[in-house]
Amino acid sequence: MTDTVNADMNEYWNGEGGRKWLRFQERVDVTLLPFALKAMDKAAIRPGEAILDVGCGCGDPSIRLARAVGAGGHVLGVDISEPILARAKAQAAAACQENLKFENADAQTHRFEDAAFDLVFSRFGVMFFDDPTQAFRNIRRALKPGGRLVFICWQAFEENEWMRKSLEIIGRHVPLPDFPGPEEPGPTSFGDRARVQRILSGAGYGDIAIEDCDTAFVMGGTLDEAVDYAMQMGPGGRAVAQSEAVEATKSRIAADLRGAFAPHETPRGVILGASTWLVTARNS
Ligand SMILES: C[S@@+](CC[C@H](N)C(=O)[O-])C[C@H]1O[C@@H](n2cnc3c(N)ncnc32)[C@H](O)[C@@H]1O
Repeated sequence: MTDTVNADMNEYWNGEGGRKWLRFQERVDVTLLPFALKAMDKAAIRPGEAILDVGCGCGDPSIRLARAVGAGGHVLGVDISEPILARAKAQAAAACQENLKFENADAQTHRFEDAAFDLVFSRFGVMFFDDPTQAFRNIRRALKPGGRLVFICWQAFEENEWMRKSLEIIGRHVPLPDFPGPEEPGPTSFGDRARVQRILSGAGYGDIAIEDCDTAFVMGGTLDEAVDYAMQMGPGGRAVAQSEAVEATKSRIAADLRGAFAPHETPRGVILGASTWLVTARNS
């Protein structure tokens, strides 16, 4: 860990995390679509609005936001990962989405234009800040007075069957890495509702609402895809990568995952449970 803001996350998302995210982009776009739609529905987007998409990733939510605001509105997607942003730009160009720009910026510290946005939106892009209160205060300055904040984030690990089940099986074969502490950045760092409330009120937001939102998580269209996803992505994927497991161990993990996921196979794919918080607040 260096003194630079969000140094570990910068390294992760520009390195291993970014590579995985790119490799699974098409799957992620399908699996995470229902979460984007729920958050967009909650945001009640109006034509002509200006939206900031924080931790925009490979761009699918930003493109949908840009379509929702129409030609009279615009969207800025920010992310700290150069390779991920390159994919987002390519996707936006392929979609001919001209009211959409991307910028390499750390949302915790970037000097956004003051009071420029009607809505700050994020799908799973706000749980990675060293200092979340500073980050949300900084983001709030970019909101117009009365502007809305809407994001969706994971609840605690134990509440998410798709993480829990994979890790339970993987942990039978390889040592599991230490989980980040309750105040440390990571995918489930906003799992504690009281913490989210504390961060947002500390950052000066009003009208804070944190809604329980359970959604089906499609791990893969087939059993093979679901096993591949579990072995590469999320906390389970990190455990497999860090253990440097030999091929024989990986094959045993894959076989056990297949067995565990088989009862979850449906005509829509392999579906496990996911619990999120759908969070709304205002720059009041
Ligand atoms: C789990 S991914 C979600 C990506 C996208 N929102 C989606 O749903 O597909 C988290 C994203 O947040 C980005 N990120 C992490 N820390 C950030 C920060 N401090 N500022 C801006 N983006 C950040 C990562 O590079 C990554 O693309």
